[in-house]
Amino acid sequence: MSANNVSHQFYDDYAVRKFTVMAVIWGVVGMLMGAVIASQLAFPELNLGISWTSFGRLRPVHTNLVIFAFGGCALFATSLYVVQRTCQTTLQFPQLSRYMFWGYQAVIVAALISLPLGYTSGKEYAEFEWPIDLLLLVVWVMYIFVFFGTIAARKVKHIYVANWFYGAFIVVVAILHVVNSMAIPADWMKSYSIYAGVQDAMIQWWYGHNVVGFILTAGFLGMMYYFVPKQVGRPVYSYRLSIVHFWGLIFTYMWAGSHHLHYTALPDWTQSVGMVLSLILLAPSWGGMINGMMTMSGAWHKLRDDPILRFLIVSLSFYGMSTFEGPMMAIKTVNSLSHYTDWTIGHVHSGALGWVGFIAMGSLYYLIPRLYGQKQMYSIKAIEIHFWLATIGVVIYITAMWVSGVTQGLMWRAMNDDGTLAYTFVESVKASHPYYVIRLFGGALYLTGMVIMLWNTFKTVSMGQATRAAIPSKLVHA
Ligand code: HEM
Ligand code: HEM
Repeated sequence: MSANNVSHQFYDDYAVRKFTVMAVIWGVVGMLMGAVIASQLAFPELNLGISWTSFGRLRPVHTNLVIFAFGGCALFATSLYVVQRTCQTTLQFPQLSRYMFWGYQAVIVAALISLPLGYTSGKEYAEFEWPIDLLLLVVWVMYIFVFFGTIAARKVKHIYVANWFYGAFIVVVAILHVVNSMAIPADWMKSYSIYAGVQDAMIQWWYGHNVVGFILTAGFLGMMYYFVPKQVGRPVYSYRLSIVHFWGLIFTYMWAGSHHLHYTALPDWTQSVGMVLSLILLAPSWGGMINGMMTMSGAWHKLRDDPILRFLIVSLSFYGMSTFEGPMMAIKTVNSLSHYTDWTIGHVHSGALGWVGFIAMGSLYYLIPRLYGQKQMYSIKAIEIHFWLATIGVVIYITAMWVSGVTQGLMWRAMNDDGTLAYTFVESVKASHPYYVIRLFGGALYLTGMVIMLWNTFKTVSMGQATRAAIPSKLVHA
């Protein structure tokens, strides 16, 4: 069949293009929700006295949009692009990749409607009620077929390391989602978890920590291992180190989730295992960061005039910073100060804005012109402005949260000589207020950068047209 023949000569980027554009759009919406809830923490009147617009309902809208809509679409787009290029073959089951795109958008829209209405399982980062969970599972099974089908049909013997990271992300997320979402439906939008008590908490934080480990880390490391060498124009510094990085990270993340449950009813030894494995996690994390950074050796001068490369390299610095801070916070004595405070929020956003945001933005800036037959983005100046707004924004955001968090922790534990508490809780809330306003300012800068990216994307896409990239011919016939 000739159509079949043609589709085997070209990469299939239909879903890649759609996911790329949606990543940028959901990025703006998700970060806008972040700015909205940051305003509500600074000025509580903005809850408007309506349950649908209250902080408690909108907070999960923010987290789900930024992690699963922005991060998820960026991961789908880049993984489907990278797997074809590194396997030198077209996407397998292309029709499924189209259903996958529309199915995933349906999941996001369902979340956008159901969460403000108050439908939630109550599990952080797994709030979707059971019908949405099932739809997500169907989408994920399609993803497994498309991604691993393409790996199986590869024209080169070797499986490039970026695909290992993407592959681990896909397999582990399937396991996490199924195990943590096990529930008994009570009606069409209400269910009860099959776990109870401390087992429920342990399963939830095994899930929560591995969402960080496999979505926000392993998936984005897949991006790092393809787009950093591509943009620098040099091979990855040490391929051997990348394999050690992979196995070290995959093994260790799985056991560290209990650091979210220090000083709880969880058996003490389980908490200590979480702490020790979190400390060990520093080694593979920094191994990966160093590998990415060293890929720049001999090409550091390129940072001067390549803002895309700057996004990619600064992301690695934040990756190093948050994976140093995380193990420190996992030490029980440190956690007794940081837990429940804004220090955690500072840590989250140094990882989320600095690492996840920057690596995704850099990779998307690489992809967009290539997917639409353009040499480069419509405006390089706009990428430059975006870079500075995002960098200044993230630094303001996380410093404000660190100061606020340490202040809260110290105020809560301060005692008078007679053993009574030195401060009331409300006094600590008042002390945090200025930092909430400063965080809002930092977040607004970061969001403005993202809006500029949306404008630049729109201009680039409307100037160009969807192109079909040919698979290098000697490999097609190999
Ligand atoms: C304009 C940018 C952003 C702003 C202004 C913002 C703001 C906020 C605020 C105010 C909270 C609630 C904090 C609290 O409960 O005390 C929050 C939570 C959170 N945000 Fe963001 N955010 C932004 C971007 C992002 C991005 C890009 C990601 C992920 C890729 C992210 C991930 C999260 C997560 C995971 C939480 C929950 C943290 C926890 O429970 O400890 N945020 N964000
Ligand atoms: C070596 C790597 C890391 C370790 C050992 C680690 C450890 C920790 C610890 C100890 C906490 C505080 C738990 C608590 O007191 O409740 C935490 C919270 C968190 N971390 Fe990390 N972290 C690491 C890397 C990262 C990265 C790279 C990101 C984001 C991209 C991230 C995202 C988060 C989030 C979202 C939370 C808040 C969870 C919640 O309570 O809702 N972490 N992490």
